Amino acid sequence: MLGATAPLSQLNTGAHGDRVGRRDRVRPSSICVVGAGHVGLVTAACLAELGHRVTCVDTDEGRIETLRSGTVPFHEPGLETLIERHCASDVLKFTTSYKEALEGVDFIFVAVNTPSTPEGAADLRYIRRAVRQIGRALKDSRPIIVNKSTAPVGTAETVDHILRQEAGSLGELPVVSNPEFLREGTAIKDFMKPDRVVLGSHDREAARRVAELYGPVEAPVLITDPETAEMIKYASNAFLATKISFINEIASICEGVGADVSQVAQGMGLDKRIGPQFLRAGIGYGGSCLPKDVKALAHMAGLYGSHPQLLNAVLQINVDQRRRLVHRLRQTLGSVEGATVAVLGLAYKPDTDDVRDSPAIDIIRLLDNEGATVRAHDPVANQNLAEILPDVTYCSDPYDAVNGCDAVIIATEWPQFLDLDLEQVKARMRRPVLVDGRNLFHPDVVRGYGFTYLGIGRPDHLEEPLVLEPQPKEA
Ligand code: UDX
Repeated sequence: MLGATAPLSQLNTGAHGDRVGRRDRVRPSSICVVGAGHVGLVTAACLAELGHRVTCVDTDEGRIETLRSGTVPFHEPGLETLIERHCASDVLKFTTSYKEALEGVDFIFVAVNTPSTPEGAADLRYIRRAVRQIGRALKDSRPIIVNKSTAPVGTAETVDHILRQEAGSLGELPVVSNPEFLREGTAIKDFMKPDRVVLGSHDREAARRVAELYGPVEAPVLITDPETAEMIKYASNAFLATKISFINEIASICEGVGADVSQVAQGMGLDKRIGPQFLRAGIGYGGSCLPKDVKALAHMAGLYGSHPQLLNAVLQINVDQRRRLVHRLRQTLGSVEGATVAVLGLAYKPDTDDVRDSPAIDIIRLLDNEGATVRAHDPVANQNLAEILPDVTYCSDPYDAVNGCDAVIIATEWPQFLDLDLEQVKARMRRPVLVDGRNLFHPDVVRGYGFTYLGIGRPDHLEEPLVLEPQPKEA
């Protein structure tokens, strides 16, 4: 295997895909990014940061206007600064015109969304539409088409097929699958310092040219066929989701046997083969990727005659986590009918205003179905949730949210909730019950204020772990 900085000519072709040594300086290219959503904008801004000339095209005129005025329509740390800087130096442009965006480009990145269909499949409508537009707008240039949208195995083929239909006179255009592994909140860092870059294409030369775009990014590049690259994306997200559902199942067992899941996760994570990440028990994963990607992979498995029992269990456990929480609250209160419940934290994780597939939505719906009144608060996501659940009372202040409540549920682990004055919270509530859906608080601290505390997978009496580090050996 070659190091990431070995020259491009030294390629090692093996059964496990190519690891490519790359140049550490960028040769500036002209790039079009299709789609000004989360992935598209981060990709466009970061490619500009790497030294390329980038035009980002989206058919949503309002969004393009907003971006031209220097505003990013969602919360992503560092993105606005990058966009401002590169727009000011004219390296990054925004347009609604495919014709303008494709003028003389060497690469076209497709970064449009692939929502779930009611059956759980990935909906390819936006990819098809974008590729058709590209095919029609291309005149005589032959750029490399790079697909960043998360799409089922076989999508590179579909893209190729549409291009032949729409831009047949240009002959076959190279298509490369380049899945993204960007987390909301750290997307810029994830792009600039990724663990790996995955490229899938039958055209190895095209894949190597895409690898060169990443120039100074210090990460191994894995080049495979397109089907394998597309599968790497799904398998990675499904594995992360599996880790979360696994620890959530362990948490339920912990509740039965009286063990503490946080310490179980700590003990497991010290094993380097397991690792500590994605072992935080809670009310399950949400967001725009994990839920839809696990469903899409399970759906794909079914199409090819497999019974994806593990994936189905991962999905089921994720739904059950929310139900279990409401069940435990029902047991504690006797009934939730007629109760008033505060839900603190509406985003699917902290540091984002994104509420897509947020566990808080399911919890509020379950409470509402059982006749409870919900008062909700999130530091930044109130407005986004109000568009989905307009009948909830939204409070700009957490103390206001808990007024007269029979229970408060922590649904997102916003760190500022740790600074809440629990004395004041308790004084405002009708019954002091705190349901910690993210194990944010120390149970003894909360109980010390006179609350009934319900965490995820935590015993009634928590004993702190004791870690004895090995002593350095004497010389
Ligand atoms: C995820 C993937 O991490 C990223 O690689 C992919 O490209 C997009 O999907 P993201 O959705 O931004 O990124 O969030 P992530 O930080 O992965 O968290 C996903 C969900 O899992 C959140 O709801 C989070 O609260 C939950 N989670 C995460 C847990 O419940 N426990 C954990 O230990 C970790």
